[in-house]
Amino acid sequence: MHIRKAVIPAAGRGTRLERITLVNAKELIPLVDRPAIDWIVKEATSAGIEELCIITSANKLAALYAHTEDLPIHVTYLIQSKPKGLGHAVQVARDWCDDDAFALLLPDDLVMGDPILTRLVQHVGSTGKSTLALTEVPQEKAHLYGVAAGMNDGGVVHISDLVEKPPSGREPSNLSVTGRYVLTPEIWPFLEKVQPGAGGEIQLTDALRGLAHQGNLSGLVTQGMRHDLGSAESWLKANIAYGAEVYGKDWLDDFHALINSNS
Ligand code: G1P
Repeated sequence: MHIRKAVIPAAGRGTRLERITLVNAKELIPLVDRPAIDWIVKEATSAGIEELCIITSANKLAALYAHTEDLPIHVTYLIQSKPKGLGHAVQVARDWCDDDAFALLLPDDLVMGDPILTRLVQHVGSTGKSTLALTEVPQEKAHLYGVAAGMNDGGVVHISDLVEKPPSGREPSNLSVTGRYVLTPEIWPFLEKVQPGAGGEIQLTDALRGLAHQGNLSGLVTQGMRHDLGSAESWLKANIAYGAEVYGKDWLDDFHALINSNS
């Protein structure tokens, strides 16, 4: 199976960074020397993706379009008219995906130091099974994510169930869903039937549960460093981590010296 399409849901309002996102799409907030979306697009093209579909809202469309028209990949834009959840955003791309498997990248979730999307593409290419990225998290953080239950066979998880944002004490494991997926068309019938779930939203996780219950969902555990671009503190940390990648170790040493001289 050859995976050449990717969907990027980018309709969210970015409420945790409201002073910035009032005037700028959160995907265009800079990460080191370029807007965050550029890093995501680079990750997709490095994994062999040839066509992108960005799902956005009417009021973010012009800014995103102006920026991405120069990117070295063909981008189709589709509008999510209401913020009804991640599952709903993916449904918007139903016709564009046609009968092809597709990658799904959540742009405020970044993974450094592991080419996880490339690994997912290869895994689905050889197994034909929908597969998503999983990161181990401490128990007190699990309620922020989708959490997978299943058998971990050397970093490949045979997922038997998934829970979106489980309440404290009800986490099925410490494996949190990370915003990289490669999905086969088998997801569509489940997504069509999904009713509003956690937070009143149409949750992709609830459609993925259907695949998991059939034994048709895998996870790849990533040891990469995860960065959440949706909050100010983690966005700052991501800038430093990616800054070290772009400008090298000397830059990081200078930065440490600066911090230490002020403490
Ligand atoms: C979404 C998914 C969740 C996943 C998370 C990763 O949640 O619904 O399963 O763990 O992305 O970032 P959101 O962060 O959009 O609430």
